[in-house]
Amino acid sequence: MLIDIIKRRCSVRSFAVKEISPDIINVILEAGRLSPSGGNEQAWKFGVITDKSLIEQMADSAYKQNWIKTSPLLIVLCTTIVEDERGGREIQKRRFPQYSEEITNMDPYLYAALNSEEHQTKIPGTHMVLQAMEYGIYSTWISYFNVDKVAKLLDLPKLCIPSEIIAFGYPETEPFPKVKKGKEEVVFYNKYKK
Ligand SMILES: Cc1cc2nc3c(=O)[nH]c(=O)nc-3n(C[C@H](O)[C@H](O)[C@H](O)COP(=O)(O)O)c2cc1C
Repeated sequence: MLIDIIKRRCSVRSFAVKEISPDIINVILEAGRLSPSGGNEQAWKFGVITDKSLIEQMADSAYKQNWIKTSPLLIVLCTTIVEDERGGREIQKRRFPQYSEEITNMDPYLYAALNSEEHQTKIPGTHMVLQAMEYGIYSTWISYFNVDKVAKLLDLPKLCIPSEIIAFGYPETEPFPKVKKGKEEVVFYNKYKK
């Protein structure tokens, strides 16, 4: 059951010295590739980083989160900028009509950077994380990194923004899932009651 995998998942930041086979990497990528997106735009690219020296440089670009260097596989979820962000930005203007004028006037690259969340690369990333668990491979999301430095490291074109990185690997020690808030704290039914 998927819920059993979800219950076992937790962030791991110390990985064993063990490569992930190309066949498994391909299944993980497939799980991401098949995920949903607004308008089925699939406005993303997935960077597969297995080169040790590049992984080390990525860790440095993630404000020296040195644990990243133990990972044998980083997948970089990149958002590709779509026409609407350069031009009309109609979807966000409809979602936030009170800011319509500001959205129209914003610099195209600043707008694209701030709007990159809207491409929801966290959805393919979540598919990948859960698929990896079937092979005993754990992961940790990384969004604390210098976007410009990572883009330069990977030779990304200007219209391709690295949104998140996921570090994968076999755990070095037994992972323990964290305690989460209870249902009564995070769920409301129909109208929100204080
Ligand atoms: C979008 C996102 C970004 C994250 N960025 C980082 C990061 O830069 N560095 C890090 O060590 N952990 C990062 N994490 C991991 C969180 O700290 C972790 O998911 C959280 O503490 C909950 O623990 P769990 O994943 O074990 O349930 C990130 C998680 C998410 C979802």
